[in-house]
Amino acid sequence: MDLTVVFLFLSLFVSSSPLGIIKLSSCNEAQSQTNNVKCIHTEREALLSFKKGLTDPSGRLSCWVGEDCCQWRGIECNNQSGHVTKLDLRCPFELESLTPYTNPYLSGKISSSLIHLKYLNYLDLSLNDFEDIQIPQFFGMLENLVYLNLSYSYFYGEIPPHLGNLSSLMHLDLHGNYGVYAENLDWLSNLSSLKYLDLGELGLKDVGADWLQAINMLPSLLELRLSYCDLESLPPSLPFVNFTSLLVLDLSENQFHSSIPQWLFNLENLTTLDLSGNFFLQGQFPSFFQNRCKLKTLDLSWNNFDGNIDGFLDDLSASLNNCLESLDLSYNQLVGKIPDSLGKLGSLRYLNLENNSFWGSIPFSIGNLSSLEELNLCGNEMNGTIPESLGQLSELVHLYLLDNSWVGFITEAQLMNLTRLEEFVLTTDKNQSLVFKVTYDWVPPFRLQGLDLENCLIGPKFPAWLQVQNKLTDVTLKNIGISDTIPEEWFSKISSQLTYLDLSNNQITGNLPHQLVFPNVDFIDLSYNLFKGPIPLWFTTARQIYLRRNLFSGHIPSNIGDLMPKLETLDLSENYLDGKIPFSIQKMKDLYVLNLGRNQLSGELSYNWNESKELVVVDIGHNNLSGKIPSSMGCLSYLSTLVLSNNNLHGEIPSSLQNCSFVSIDLGGNNLSGNLPLWIGPILQILDLAHNNLFGGIPDCLDNLTTLVYGNNNFFHFYNSSYIEKAIIMTKGRELEYSNTLQFVTSIDLSRNKLTGGIPNEIASLGRLGTLNLSMNHLTGNIPKNIGNMRWLETLDLSRNSFSGPIPESMSFLTFLAHLNLSFNNLTGRIPNGNQLQTLNDASIYKGNPLLCGSTLLTKCLGDETSNGPTFIGGSVEDRQDGDDTERLWFYISIGLGFIVGFWGICGTLLVKKSWRHWYFRFCDDIKDRITLTIALKVVHLKKKFGLEKN
Ligand SMILES: *[C@@H]1O[C@H](CO)[C@@H](O)[C@H](O)[C@H]1NC(C)=O
Ligand SMILES: *[C@@H]1O[C@H](CO)[C@@H](O)[C@H](O)[C@H]1NC(C)=O
Ligand SMILES: *[C@@H]1O[C@H](CO)[C@@H](O)[C@H](O)[C@H]1NC(C)=O
Ligand SMILES: *[C@@H]1O[C@H](CO)[C@@H](O)[C@H](O)[C@H]1NC(C)=O
Ligand SMILES: *[C@@H]1O[C@H](CO)[C@@H](O)[C@H](O)[C@H]1NC(C)=O
Repeated sequence: MDLTVVFLFLSLFVSSSPLGIIKLSSCNEAQSQTNNVKCIHTEREALLSFKKGLTDPSGRLSCWVGEDCCQWRGIECNNQSGHVTKLDLRCPFELESLTPYTNPYLSGKISSSLIHLKYLNYLDLSLNDFEDIQIPQFFGMLENLVYLNLSYSYFYGEIPPHLGNLSSLMHLDLHGNYGVYAENLDWLSNLSSLKYLDLGELGLKDVGADWLQAINMLPSLLELRLSYCDLESLPPSLPFVNFTSLLVLDLSENQFHSSIPQWLFNLENLTTLDLSGNFFLQGQFPSFFQNRCKLKTLDLSWNNFDGNIDGFLDDLSASLNNCLESLDLSYNQLVGKIPDSLGKLGSLRYLNLENNSFWGSIPFSIGNLSSLEELNLCGNEMNGTIPESLGQLSELVHLYLLDNSWVGFITEAQLMNLTRLEEFVLTTDKNQSLVFKVTYDWVPPFRLQGLDLENCLIGPKFPAWLQVQNKLTDVTLKNIGISDTIPEEWFSKISSQLTYLDLSNNQITGNLPHQLVFPNVDFIDLSYNLFKGPIPLWFTTARQIYLRRNLFSGHIPSNIGDLMPKLETLDLSENYLDGKIPFSIQKMKDLYVLNLGRNQLSGELSYNWNESKELVVVDIGHNNLSGKIPSSMGCLSYLSTLVLSNNNLHGEIPSSLQNCSFVSIDLGGNNLSGNLPLWIGPILQILDLAHNNLFGGIPDCLDNLTTLVYGNNNFFHFYNSSYIEKAIIMTKGRELEYSNTLQFVTSIDLSRNKLTGGIPNEIASLGRLGTLNLSMNHLTGNIPKNIGNMRWLETLDLSRNSFSGPIPESMSFLTFLAHLNLSFNNLTGRIPNGNQLQTLNDASIYKGNPLLCGSTLLTKCLGDETSNGPTFIGGSVEDRQDGDDTERLWFYISIGLGFIVGFWGICGTLLVKKSWRHWYFRFCDDIKDRITLTIALKVVHLKKKFGLEKN
């Protein structure tokens, strides 16, 4: 597992746990006991010495004063005898009353004086922070305990087997103490009264294959939770199942690489079965439910099930047709059509088939699931239609149909009776293959909060059914064929509540409503439309704004930094903006992506760059900037991508830039002069200084470019963000949407300068370099002999220099070489033959080197046989160069800060907001990182347990 992932997990977890804060109730709020029983003196003493051992920074036990300990906070006594029976010091979390500097957790020592509380039957120390002490052994002496809860209290070490003496115990909850482990579970077998057992998140890796034997001695067990325990074996058979009264079984997120054992389905009273996040496999789902219609929740998600579900569903519907309420089969490898028998599960309220490979249409029988509240078919290969019967699901609240290949039509019929619908998410990857055929002025019965429609056809106008949606908070209407103006009334109505707005890839025209307030918005993307006029003067809390490729003109508002102080990403690229870059941008203290590329901005970069310390990406390429590159840019120590190409910048490249952590520098197409910088950073992957007036030699410290030498490190994988997703790579007249392969792109382009001297031999150590372009300089000397070591080289252009000597034999080892140009030099001798070079048999590669000879050329080497006919020597190099080669050479790439910010910015927020989950899933799906998602889910899980997830 990547360390970074662990780090993220930890940071999420750590940052979530101290959030909760105690509502410090005042002393007189302690539960009052109406009778006059006074507490027993020895028990009072015991409590006081217990208190003495504890550290209590927020004074939760400050009320433990006075004679009658039965009145103390967290204590309950027996009415008759006055013995303390209950000690409840669970830390009361209240996210609402968050005051970050108070630490509400008890910690310190747990005094063994507690054993004097002989009649204690209830002990709850959960959600505290005992700073890695062991669970005290003497707890095993509290023989009247019925209830013991030590969950999430940072205990550590082995579970004391002494707990096995608590023969009256009915409820044992130790979950969420990550450092606690057990070598075996034998001690459990004495706890024959146990009804509730939760050992989730404890280390049970070493409990051996027969751990279930101990559980099998617990005939009263109703609820068993062993989630995230690293359990590895689940016995395929049990001769006798003792715990048949079990109602809830949670074995999620373990490591069972087996099939589901049959005995599980003999648990006739089971209502909840969670086997998610294991590696259960073996083809088909089990089909042997003995259950007599008790099971309500079945979670088999995140396993390795494959095949179709026809038999499984038949079986389910035969035995569970009137009780199953929640079915989760998401994240498996299931295939085939979703069978009609689905419609027999008439009690279903929650159905999740996300991320499988189902295809075809949604079965018509879906209309029979009259209780369905949530339907999730995201991330399948559904290439059919959405039936009209969907419109009968009058209880449906969440409809997730993201990432499929839907075709056909959506009419009023599919939407007519969805009166409770709040979230509607539908995207198809076949461009506009799904068409909304809804009468323009039809008014639907629902008022949505979340709407995400992508790639279907809804336009050309904003239909009335959209414009009546006045509760929207999350809106994505991307590439839905709208060529209308923004309905201002609707827009200003929802602007105050919007948190997410994406209208990109339409042909929306006209000016944007100029002055609006978006007090809650986080993300605005209006890219790829036809908006014109000035950049709007919105006051917004947005963190990301994308207005890329529209027709915006005029100056960037000079107060933009005042109006949008929280911006992290500002993308105004590919518009017609002119004038200077306003100084107020430096007030955006959190800005990490600034993309103003491809406008007509002018003036100097005299902006004070030390203010925007967080900048990671600066792209102001393809403008009319003049002056020098300011040395204050060197203050941007996180700057990893700098694009200033195709401006009129002059002067030298400031040496202060060595303080940045560049992954990509593109300064090509300016009038920069001076020597090549010697300081280029170790994680550099893309260096483009082409088309300037740089002179001097190529430094021989190239082997310091460790990324190019050894390949990128994990760190860079996380420099992969929404920004990349947005990045378009411009090649002359062509665009390529860039993908996640960015981390493999490596390129040095120093062409069209005035460089002199030779190529240092060290260049051969750049084993990971994909593109090297040194053409159109005044370079001399030989091509380094060991150039064949640059194994990843795909493009090599040394044309139009004064290289001499032979072409090294080793060049034929460059197995990936697809583009080679050595033309117009003074190379001599025989063109090496064989391997890759044989496939590059275009004579123009070698043109303009009169002393070269070889089979590719007309000129045969001395002693060679006569030619088989003239070989074409054409001027095609230049053309081809401008095509494919320049794809790799001329692009500029914008690398976002990426993962950390991205994860937080997108996933982080969404974790706590259930209604945004689909964004989150999409993101995680993009990075195809199961581990990250598992961990993130784990965090959700934890947050739920902490009661932190607000819904
Ligand atoms: C079932 O539980 C009872 C009571 O704990 C125990 O005596 C018995 O041995 C158990 N049976 C099996 C097969 O484990
Ligand atoms: C299952 O539940 C029923 C009804 O609550 C009860 O009578 C029966 O004893 C239970 N079965 C087991 C094995 O506990
Ligand atoms: C849908 O996908 C399935 C599986 O890939 C394929 O067999 C079928 O022909 C497709 N149907 C249509 C209408 O494209
Ligand atoms: C919608 O509900 C009405 C009344 O309940 C019913 O008559 C109608 O058939 C339903 N329409 C659809 C498409 O299910
Ligand atoms: C390159 O690396 C070597 C060894 O790590 C170091 O001594 C040298 O200063 C570096 N050169 C530059 C220009 O950073």
